[in-house]
Amino acid sequence: MSRSSLLAVTTTALFLSVAPRSAVSAVPTPVSVMPLPHSVVAAEGRLPITAKLTVALRGHDDARLRAGLARALRRAEERTGLTFARTPQAAYVISGDSSAATLVIECGAAAAAVPVLGEDESYTLAITPSQAVLRAPTVHGVLHGLETTLQLLQGDAGGWFLPAMRIEDRPRFPWRGLMLDVCRHWQPMEVVKRTLDGMALAKLNVLHLHLTEDQGFRIESKSFPRLHEMGSDGLYFTQEQMREIIAYAAERCIRVVPEFDIPGHATSWLVGHPEIGSAPGPYVIERKWGIFDPVLDPTNPRTYEILDGFLTEMAALFPDPYLHIGGDENNGVHWSANAKIQQYIRDHDLKDLHGLHTHFNNRVHAILARNGKRLVGWDEILHPDLASGSVVHSWRGPDGIAAATALGFATILSNGYYIDLSHPTVDHYLNDPIPPGSKLTEAQQKLVLGGEATMWAEWVTPETIDSRLWPRTAAIAERLWSRQDVRDVDDMYRRLGYVSRRLEEAGMRHLSYIDPALRRLAGDGASAEDLVLLREFVDLLEPVKVYQRGRHQPDATQHTPLTGLVDCTRPDSRAARGFAAQVDLYLRNPKAPAVAETLSAQLKQWDAMARRLSDGLVKRSPRLREAEPLVQALGAACGAGRDAIEILTHGTKPPARWREAQLSALERAGKPFAAVEFPIMPAIRALVEAAAQP
Ligand code: ACM
Repeated sequence: MSRSSLLAVTTTALFLSVAPRSAVSAVPTPVSVMPLPHSVVAAEGRLPITAKLTVALRGHDDARLRAGLARALRRAEERTGLTFARTPQAAYVISGDSSAATLVIECGAAAAAVPVLGEDESYTLAITPSQAVLRAPTVHGVLHGLETTLQLLQGDAGGWFLPAMRIEDRPRFPWRGLMLDVCRHWQPMEVVKRTLDGMALAKLNVLHLHLTEDQGFRIESKSFPRLHEMGSDGLYFTQEQMREIIAYAAERCIRVVPEFDIPGHATSWLVGHPEIGSAPGPYVIERKWGIFDPVLDPTNPRTYEILDGFLTEMAALFPDPYLHIGGDENNGVHWSANAKIQQYIRDHDLKDLHGLHTHFNNRVHAILARNGKRLVGWDEILHPDLASGSVVHSWRGPDGIAAATALGFATILSNGYYIDLSHPTVDHYLNDPIPPGSKLTEAQQKLVLGGEATMWAEWVTPETIDSRLWPRTAAIAERLWSRQDVRDVDDMYRRLGYVSRRLEEAGMRHLSYIDPALRRLAGDGASAEDLVLLREFVDLLEPVKVYQRGRHQPDATQHTPLTGLVDCTRPDSRAARGFAAQVDLYLRNPKAPAVAETLSAQLKQWDAMARRLSDGLVKRSPRLREAEPLVQALGAACGAGRDAIEILTHGTKPPARWREAQLSALERAGKPFAAVEFPIMPAIRALVEAAAQP
């Protein structure tokens, strides 16, 4: 969706559906929670939060609940600066006497020790001026309710408080995931753990770990140690570390679903075991990005011997009943070139490569079934002969869900949730597994389990990954949690600003990584003022979208440092979005002098910033040479925009061929360079077009 049609989307329920309690309080209360709860009823007053806060537990009580509560209280302390009461053992004081407690938690039962698909995750939260009561059937709902409470906590001149309201909340879809590729660029334990904390905040409940790829085999195998020893450069999770991750996730009621991508995307398998490849080898770990030919040999008994041993081992390591086998982008090159494999297709009447792929999948399905696991795979596994009970993970297009469910397969949506591709949040947000007006039958809709954001790791390191994950993933989390009719884009963006800061408080680094990264780019000679200008400049840029970055950096490999200008830019520039909204407002009333002045002043400021960077830091810093054409482009665009506003304000007629000259200058200025682009260009173009109207 384009940025201009974005503005047209804004429709109903500006400040969510907060039903006013009386006709008098017709002003809706802005709730800053994301995902938006199922129902919110605002009430009068506020519950003060002070150092005297006390918590009482009623009903079920266990270690996971207490640990979750302690994490929540600590985050509340860090936000507010308050210190809550502690026991001599330094634990928070939790009592059983609920009459005077600030927060009462009433929990019905334990949640599944290892979380499972379809658990009751609901909770209610009733906040009055005297007490907050959080009720949930299980600990799972309690943890969600605590996240909501933390997001509601706010402060003003009167101190810290929770606004009075009543919330009833439950998820729309049971499978709300994030796929993390830890292969292309290794993502160590600390990234996985903080990502789990961010997921818990956003009420996501599935961490899908993409553990094997052409570029790395990232899990220890005790039965076939050549897999990780030769396929990983030593960068892999030991089984002990993986158990730690699974336990950390379970503490937060998050499932861990592993993916071992086969038969394609499998170069790293073949480095240590070339005998199961479809071509003779030898194989080395792939360092570049793309789709590669190496593929397991589905006709070789040894392939299944290794798969059986390895998957049986992994089935024991990962407690979740679902196991993802990838299955994507097998280009068929090595299968087509291998006479033995071609003969096998004929001998087994498999018809074609897809038939052979399905034959392979069904043999893997049998191994998994023997281990009590359900097979999950990307779109390409879909085939009429695919073993029933498999789950199809849709990524290739908008029709995947319909195609899979038409054949009776359960499905998860990721098409439209590719956060690695740097799309604006709104594109993901309005992408619904079952959109309003969906043509899916009721039976098909029941097969839609939910969706997953996908974080592929060609262009991210532990330093930058959070800036691609957050806060946009929180908007996808809302799509999967909140009601189908929650689609107000302006309100989503309003709440996203809050949740972004809450995520940072919970340990994400999408905001904080940027200043050190810019200091490194600027070099030792940069002044404080240089750094302020540079920050303002990169906040106006975005990484190029979709798969364009590979075209800008065709020689990049796994070893290329990701510390350039593009790595300091972030998707969905807030500055650009604000500017576009102002332009939209202005063009609806070009005679409005205040908006014209604001816009013109903004463009003047950016122009001055571009000039100072161009004459200063950009000349001095070797790392910033690539910014030179971009600062020039910004200056040119700002000039065109200011001219347009001048013409519109005075109602003058632009000179002959003015429009063409400006548009062609903007065309040049708007060309992506060094893998970044200016999202303000469409708004400036709109100003020029408006000024050129007779
Ligand atoms: C994929 O993006 N190849 C699943």
